[in-house]
Amino acid sequence: MLPIELVQVASLLVLAGVSLAQVPPGHAALFPEGLSVLNTRPRSIGLNNMQGVPFGFTQWAFGTVPQVCYNAAVDDGYCNVYDLEVYDVEYDDCAVPWTFCRCSDSPLSIEAFAGRVGRLPVAARQYARFFSSYGGNSSAFSFRNDITFFGPIEGQSVYIHELSHNLDRLYSPPDSLTSFSGTDEYANAVAADSCSPDDYAKTSYAEHYAQTSVMIAYDVTVGPIDSVRNTSCMANAFNAARKHLAPIWQFNEVGTCTSRLSEDDSPRVCMGPEAPCPGDPVRVASSDSESDPEGFRWAPVVESVDDEELERKRRAEREAGMRGYAEIA
Ligand SMILES: *[C@@H]1O[C@H](CO)[C@@H](O)[C@H](O)[C@H]1NC(C)=O
Ligand SMILES: *[C@@H]1O[C@H](CO)[C@@H](O)[C@H](O)[C@H]1NC(C)=O
Repeated sequence: MLPIELVQVASLLVLAGVSLAQVPPGHAALFPEGLSVLNTRPRSIGLNNMQGVPFGFTQWAFGTVPQVCYNAAVDDGYCNVYDLEVYDVEYDDCAVPWTFCRCSDSPLSIEAFAGRVGRLPVAARQYARFFSSYGGNSSAFSFRNDITFFGPIEGQSVYIHELSHNLDRLYSPPDSLTSFSGTDEYANAVAADSCSPDDYAKTSYAEHYAQTSVMIAYDVTVGPIDSVRNTSCMANAFNAARKHLAPIWQFNEVGTCTSRLSEDDSPRVCMGPEAPCPGDPVRVASSDSESDPEGFRWAPVVESVDDEELERKRRAEREAGMRGYAEIA
């Protein structure tokens, strides 16, 4: 979720207003059973068969973790920080590796997790930074372009959905602080339709866009979506989103990353006093961080912008969002 994250504080009020606008509640759900049916099709391939790129990975030595993973583990309570495994995952289509954080209680192996991410075409994948996986009930969210999964999420539709929130921001109108799904153009398109992808898509325009994006990804990588379900009842939103999203979801064998998001603002930090941290560079120098008696520097708590709204949405996606995706374990 979170169309908002890169935006300045001043815009949050405006965006909060936008987010209150309702997708027409009278819309029928084109996929009442949820979009996970697009992952595996009877007698055919589905999104889970999207082509991936080869990759290799190396695990970081125990002791340091990226600050965003530290904050998620400690502040959000997702994982005992000493149980975090951190990997550099290098895909053949990008010289810059992605950093993956995996809690040891995650049901996804790093191979399975990185493999799912590797099926996201690099043209789109490059707009994600950290990928994390924790144990728990199936859910996922995107926050500040970092994508977090809980539980045994194997369905490619979830990976596409979360990355679509990042793309939503990418395709905001020039000089605008909103995301594409927050524009009048998208709202008017949705209003001109009589159905929405599924019930979850009706919870907000951002979710509507992300679910529509999953359908577009199917259309351009697997086969005509209209052979699965007649999309004419949502043609306006589909076409509005499709003009940006069709080219980016198209698998391109010779694709390479061109605009890879930097992870540099999340330095390596020490896991804590039990961790064998090497010299000072891995410690966070921050005037408001606390020092322990031995002089360890602690990771500063992630700044709380006007984060109440962000946090509310983040939880909402996590708790409510994945019903349609919950996978039979
Ligand atoms: C998973 O869902 C069940 C049923 O809703 C709930 O009782 C349990 O607390 C949840 N587990 C976690 C880790 O959130
Ligand atoms: C889809 O539905 C529309 C409107 O009911 C209809 O005109 C069109 O022929 C249908 N398309 C297919 C492929 O069934």
